[in-house]
Amino acid sequence: MIDIHSHILPAIDDGARNMDMTLSMLHMSVESGVTDIIATPHVNRGGHVPSWQEIEEKTAQVTDAAKEAYLPIHIYSGAEIELNGDVLRFLKEGSRDYCLAGSPYILLELTDQSQPDMSERLIYELQLRGFWPILAHVERYGQLMSHPDILISWAKKGILLQCNIGSFTGYFGQHLQRHAENLYQNHLVHFLGSDGHRTEFRTTDMREGQDALRSLQQKQHNQQDLWLETTQNASRILNHRVLYPDVPEHWQVKKKGLWHRLFS
Ligand SMILES: [Fe+2]
Repeated sequence: MIDIHSHILPAIDDGARNMDMTLSMLHMSVESGVTDIIATPHVNRGGHVPSWQEIEEKTAQVTDAAKEAYLPIHIYSGAEIELNGDVLRFLKEGSRDYCLAGSPYILLELTDQSQPDMSERLIYELQLRGFWPILAHVERYGQLMSHPDILISWAKKGILLQCNIGSFTGYFGQHLQRHAENLYQNHLVHFLGSDGHRTEFRTTDMREGQDALRSLQQKQHNQQDLWLETTQNASRILNHRVLYPDVPEHWQVKKKGLWHRLFS
């Protein structure tokens, strides 16, 4: 497995507090079968933009520490960038700063205030600058999940979608679990990430998530092995190759039975 979304870098955002915590988080990743992990600290959250140099230096320090601790995992630089007009100041054409693992892919997050039409215009501008956008934890955005036709049109325009694996276990509540399951049913999950922040909660441990995916696949009679497919997709990021996913024409969600609708 390749974890494309994590907050493992020490003392740079609300993720790992120090190098000890970073190493414990990496240990959890290795135990989960993660072989490669991209560090994606928050960038542009509340207007704070850490320098790309700082992110690269911290990634190098973590790589050295992981080697010393004999942890068999590759660590790459990246960022989780809050999308607003300010990104046009620091995401420059031809640059790979703030991209995932030196590829043209960038991980973007929206806020509760983000308007889909404005976000789409900004993402288009970034695409014109040569960036390949991935939308982080898409299951969280109520405005998009209540208008999944927008998500389908975005996916057709090359905007790829990432889900947090914890959403499939119900860790973030039933609401987000339902969103994640519906995205999976519609083949709209292109990447998975732990979005791990700490060792005691919101961790990098993906084992429970993998179990949840297995049972969901059986429950939905879904042919898509999401764990395997998202790992293959993520390997395209590491190899700087383009991903052209099959995008559904229409959003389909199985209607709940009368019993469920009356009593839940
Ligand atoms: Fe995150």
